[in-house]
Amino acid sequence: MADWALITGASRGIGREAAARFSRAGWGVMNVSRKPCPVPGVVNVEADLSLPGWEEKVGAALKDALGPGGGRLSLVHNAALYEHDDALSLSAAHLRRVLEVNVVVPARLNSMVRSHLTEGSSILYVGSTLSEKAVKGAASYAISKHALVGLMRATCQDLVGMRVHTVCICPGFTDTEMLREHIGGNQAILESVAKRTTFGRLINPEEIADVLFFCANTPVLNGVVIHAHLGQIES
Ligand SMILES: NC(=O)c1ccc[n+]([C@@H]2O[C@H](COP(=O)([O-])OP(=O)(O)OC[C@H]3O[C@@H](n4cnc5c(N)ncnc54)[C@H](OP(=O)(O)O)[C@@H]3O)[C@@H](O)[C@H]2O)c1
Repeated sequence: MADWALITGASRGIGREAAARFSRAGWGVMNVSRKPCPVPGVVNVEADLSLPGWEEKVGAALKDALGPGGGRLSLVHNAALYEHDDALSLSAAHLRRVLEVNVVVPARLNSMVRSHLTEGSSILYVGSTLSEKAVKGAASYAISKHALVGLMRATCQDLVGMRVHTVCICPGFTDTEMLREHIGGNQAILESVAKRTTFGRLINPEEIADVLFFCANTPVLNGVVIHAHLGQIES
């Protein structure tokens, strides 16, 4: 009975490193993203989580790969949109698009995997430091990352008796394409961002992958928010 990790957004960044971490430990890994995960052996479900149609693809892949009565499942809600916007000029269409990928997809995936949640399974949410605070110019992201904490806490309560645990892991500034794209590829900004941790460097995505893997294997961490930000300096 193999253990499986189902990770959204493992084509790059934190998700890719999480796929590598679970895979090294002998877990089967399934990725859902538009581009494939480069880690050998990963089952790729190529789907756009912002468009209808992904549920059928993921449902079929789950049925094929996991089957009934399998080992543990760790569902890692990692894929997200991070866009520049403003709380006072958000359009409904824009906000709905971000909430769809960042919040609605995780909620739908939870219900799709319900029958695979054997004892010791876990549902891990990748939040952000913006799960518990906001900064200027990132309204839809902050809204969605706060909502994930609510979804995680509700998940914990609704899993009562199943011996399945859930955690929201909140990374700080992590050196991925998402961060680099968000700051427009500006090296000077990247260096100033790195100086905003007490260690004076960015977090490596592998470090967040290790935290995710640890959480998957640590059921006493249940219903909680874990910050992994290398001592972010508040200004
Ligand atoms: N990097 C940071 O500093 C940081 C800090 C705090 C929190 N986080 C959180 O960490 C998680 C991973 O971030 P990252 O930095 O690794 O980001 P990333 O490098 O941009 O990776 C994001 C992943 O999400 C997938 N994705 C995005 N839109 C998708 C869509 N419509 N359908 C399917 N997949 C989609 C992408 O895959 P495709 O493009 O192949 O579809 C990609 O694999 C996110 O939840 C992010 O909010 C990151």
